[in-house]
Amino acid sequence: MSEKSSGGIPIQPLIGVIGWILTVSAAGVGALLIAYDMLSGHSNLYTGVVTYMLIPVFLSAGIAMIFVGWLTKLRRRSRHQEDKSLVLDLNNPKHVNRLKALGIFAALFACLSAIGGYRSYHFTESTEFCGLTCHKVMEPEFVTYHSSPHAKVSCVECHIGSGADWYVKSKMSGLRQVYAYLTNSYELPIDTPIHNLRPARETCEECHWPEKFSGNLEKTITHYTSEEDNHPYAVRLVLKVGGGSGEFASGIHWHVSSGFKIEYISTDRKRLEIPWVKMTAPDGKETVFTSEEFDPEILNSTHEIRTMDCIDCHNRPSHIFKDPLKLVNESIGEGKIDVKIPEIKYNVMGLLEEFYATTEEAHEKIEETLTATYLDDPEIEGATFEESVKNAIAEVKEIYSSTFFPEKHVDWTTHPDFNGHFRWDGCYRCHDGTHTADSGEVITHDCNNCHLISGQAEGFEEVANMEYELQKFYHPMDMGELEPEDKCTDCHEAPEPTDYVEVAKGE
Ligand code: HEC
Ligand code: HEC
Ligand code: HEC
Ligand code: HEC
Ligand code: HEC
Ligand code: HEC
Repeated sequence: MSEKSSGGIPIQPLIGVIGWILTVSAAGVGALLIAYDMLSGHSNLYTGVVTYMLIPVFLSAGIAMIFVGWLTKLRRRSRHQEDKSLVLDLNNPKHVNRLKALGIFAALFACLSAIGGYRSYHFTESTEFCGLTCHKVMEPEFVTYHSSPHAKVSCVECHIGSGADWYVKSKMSGLRQVYAYLTNSYELPIDTPIHNLRPARETCEECHWPEKFSGNLEKTITHYTSEEDNHPYAVRLVLKVGGGSGEFASGIHWHVSSGFKIEYISTDRKRLEIPWVKMTAPDGKETVFTSEEFDPEILNSTHEIRTMDCIDCHNRPSHIFKDPLKLVNESIGEGKIDVKIPEIKYNVMGLLEEFYATTEEAHEKIEETLTATYLDDPEIEGATFEESVKNAIAEVKEIYSSTFFPEKHVDWTTHPDFNGHFRWDGCYRCHDGTHTADSGEVITHDCNNCHLISGQAEGFEEVANMEYELQKFYHPMDMGELEPEDKCTDCHEAPEPTDYVEVAKGE
């Protein structure tokens, strides 16, 4: 489209020509890529970045250059007092043709930008973009997300939700994050909990609603003991999830039923300590419960008063950094680690409790130690376990990689799970039997208020034939009944969060 020079004016300034080349080629490549992206049916991160982030940059640069070129030309023309070509003459077929071409080009361009804009919006909202563009930083969240019940729910449905205001807020904080990422000024691990997360009620409730009455939910949890024969212990719980609204609300989901409101103050960033809890009933009656650690000063401090919602229990709906104990139990249950290998539970747990600076180091140590224990002298009590030990080694490495991310300073100990009371206090942050109101009322500590134990058994035969009968909890491995004030965490608490920065300094 470059013009011939007339009247001694130099041809279209070079910048304009480059602008045209850039614009036309970017638009052409962009159109092809958008078509490819739409037809191929699956989005690919790298074509996405090129199509929706790089092409628009080239396109805008091209258009800007054309514009600058055009302005330069105008300025030169006016300097030479030759502005005749600026007059549009509709009787001049050359002018009409140019106008037509311009019209067609503008229409094509508008279409392309509309489709491109729409697709870029979706692209920057996609799971691939969230998880992989900042791959280095968010790998642990991305990996754990993919094996969670929400693996098909996109990141933005929980992290942004619907509505323009949160969309804008998220893009602003996204820009800050991209800046921190590019300038390498972010800290590892990514802080948790997210203190400015959109209230869960506005995101989770797009798909779940607490008035849905779930009734009771049955769950059987199987452990393998650290005895030589790795024999199982299983407990069947009938969890009183409940639900409903107002005065009909009951059970565990009562906390989030309409009408009631539970507020609390926690004195640490991870929300592990909760010395103050306020319950407001539908009639406005308030009851305040405080624990022995309560210091009235905290009411006058800057501590946030948080209204309880879904993520105070389901704080790991998607990024589930599973307890290795649980993972090993599951792998034995699924036969991926052969229960017949003597003392395998004990040996594997020992390995997963060690500290390793890198995944590679962990994998090496796992291989070395289990090989030395079982394969150097493959005959153990008259049997060989060569094949199953090799399988176990591969599985233990898998387990390690699914819940330890030493390069990102993240592992299961840095991300507590509050839905229970076995490794972290979770429910027991409030339900430990010490949170008392002035009236003497105590937040319930009765096991049967949350779940019934409808079966328990220890040993291979016994677990296989576990019957239904309501029972009191008895501790496995002949430890008998626990005192009411004993908490599982007194003995089973997760280790202190690994401080990778401190460890690195120490080396
Ligand atoms: C089912 C809802 C849900 C989905 C889907 C989801 N997240 Fe999250 N995410 C959460 C919640 C809830 C938290 C905050 C937990 C807390 O505050 O204790 C969180 C926390 C995070 C954190 C902070 C660190 C941490 O683990 O607490 C990052 C980073 C993150 N999410 C990234 C992502 C990415 C990337 C995706 C998509 C691959 C994603 N999330 C998908 C619910 C979700
Ligand atoms: C876009 C829809 C969507 C959103 C938003 C969503 N979920 Fe879910 N959630 C699902 C689906 C679908 C399932 C069922 C998955 C299955 O059964 O495999 C599910 C399952 C669950 C379960 C049962 C998990 C299990 O172990 O079976 C819990 C608990 C849960 N969601 C909590 C949450 C919380 C908390 C949030 C908000 C942070 C949330 N969900 C946001 C769609 C959603
Ligand atoms: C007081 C703690 C607590 C709160 C608050 C809570 N939940 Fe639950 N929820 C539980 C427990 C415990 C279960 C039982 C299942 C389990 O242990 O994994 C459960 C089960 C569920 C299930 C699976 C039950 C079914 O019907 O299949 C879903 C879905 C769920 N919760 C969503 C939510 C959502 C959404 C919210 C917020 C509106 C919420 N929960 C608030 C503790 C809680
Ligand atoms: C922030 C404090 C807090 C946390 C955390 C908490 N609760 Fe509660 N819960 C309360 C208060 C306050 C009450 C009301 C007083 C009572 O009934 O004892 C209550 C009541 C209950 C009730 C009785 C509801 C009814 O029918 O009246 C159940 C069941 C329950 N909680 C289960 C759980 C479970 C399970 C968890 C953990 C997954 C949990 N709670 C975590 C504060 C909490
Ligand atoms: C405030 C509610 C609440 C109270 C009170 C409570 N539990 Fe639990 N308990 C739970 C929840 C929630 C889980 C987790 C279920 C799951 O894993 O989904 C759980 C899990 C368990 C488990 C299985 C642990 C595992 O992972 O193997 C046992 C055993 C258990 N509770 C025993 C007890 C006993 C004994 C008491 C009374 C001294 C008690 N609980 C009191 C809510 C409660
Ligand atoms: C006074 C300390 C103590 C308390 C309290 C306690 N345990 Fe244990 N528990 C032990 C010891 C010691 C072992 C055996 C050592 C091992 O295998 O790690 C054990 C082993 C177990 C095992 C079998 C093997 C395993 O490692 O998975 C289960 C299951 C178990 N405990 C559940 C519970 C539950 C649930 C509670 C709370 C209701 C609880 N324990 C409270 C000390 C305790």
